[in-house]
Amino acid sequence: MNIAEQIADLQKQVEALKAESAEDLEALRIKYMSKKGAIPQLFDAFKEIPKEQKAQFGASINQLRQAAEARFNELKEQLGGAASHAIVDKQDLTRTPDPIELGTRHPLSLVREEIVDIFSRIGFTVADGPEVEDDQHVFSMLNFAPEHPARDMQDTFFIEKEPGVQKPTDILLRTHTSSVQTRVMTSQKPPIRVLCPGRVYRNEAISARAHCFFHQVEGLYIDKNVSYADLREVLLYFAKEMFGPDTKIRLRPSYFPFTEPSAEMDISCHICGGKGCAFCKGTGWVEILGCGMVDPNVLEACGIDSKVYTGYAFGMGVERIANLKYRVKDLRLFSENDVRFLRQFESC
Ligand code: PHE
Repeated sequence: MNIAEQIADLQKQVEALKAESAEDLEALRIKYMSKKGAIPQLFDAFKEIPKEQKAQFGASINQLRQAAEARFNELKEQLGGAASHAIVDKQDLTRTPDPIELGTRHPLSLVREEIVDIFSRIGFTVADGPEVEDDQHVFSMLNFAPEHPARDMQDTFFIEKEPGVQKPTDILLRTHTSSVQTRVMTSQKPPIRVLCPGRVYRNEAISARAHCFFHQVEGLYIDKNVSYADLREVLLYFAKEMFGPDTKIRLRPSYFPFTEPSAEMDISCHICGGKGCAFCKGTGWVEILGCGMVDPNVLEACGIDSKVYTGYAFGMGVERIANLKYRVKDLRLFSENDVRFLRQFESC
């Protein structure tokens, strides 16, 4: 076949080109248009032909190439719809999606659950109550004198009955979860053995060491013949479970309106083991909770016969326990929800 015949032959082939798929089209493109393809090969033959014929053949080869390009574009356009269908068909609907990022449990939830778990092993159940409370349940029934400083605007968030009008009000945000204890005492008969975990509010300036809200777990046990020795044993059990079997406790006399006698409990510093370090300020002890025997006035205010029943109560801050366990220096970290902080509890 001479070059003129070759050109004519290829021209016919190109006009008749058909492609069923993107893959077909690509195979044809390689066959005709790639460096080693049929049309560029013509340029090699072109070198051999006599000078005077070059212009004529050059023009017809170029024409052929343009015709081929046009045909390929046409085929590509025809395949356009089908090609995208091919891609859709290739989607694998059984493939697992990208891994969903799991969150972590909040350190305060972890500590609260641990506290609840320790006490539930000795028969305590969880009781819940409202965060928006009344003066009765937060203060009056708990033996707070009418002029007690805790009722002061400094400590308590009172809720305005009408927006913007600060009338005297007895609706407030609970300052401790002892309010749940009063609700339990007025609605259940002894024996009572409950834990009251929850958020509480106090009107304090926010700093590394104080916040306007924090979390507590309080406990209450009422039955016949409940003694201070029972309280001490239960708290010792808790301290050992929470901070390790070598932990010691000491109870220092204190004052709460709703308990008599009242005490604050320290544990032997779990960092230095009681020898004295920077954490316990050299004392070997760190304070963790308040406790005491339920004041008979409280039992009576809640309709429980104080001649028959006695009880103990205790209350601790969850942030405080979390600080001791994880040594978080700034309380604000607990409520900022910075994932760099929260991720550190992933494996807890
Ligand atoms: N309600 C007390 C507080 O918020 C804690 C406490 C509870 C103390 C029970 C004694 C007995 O600080």
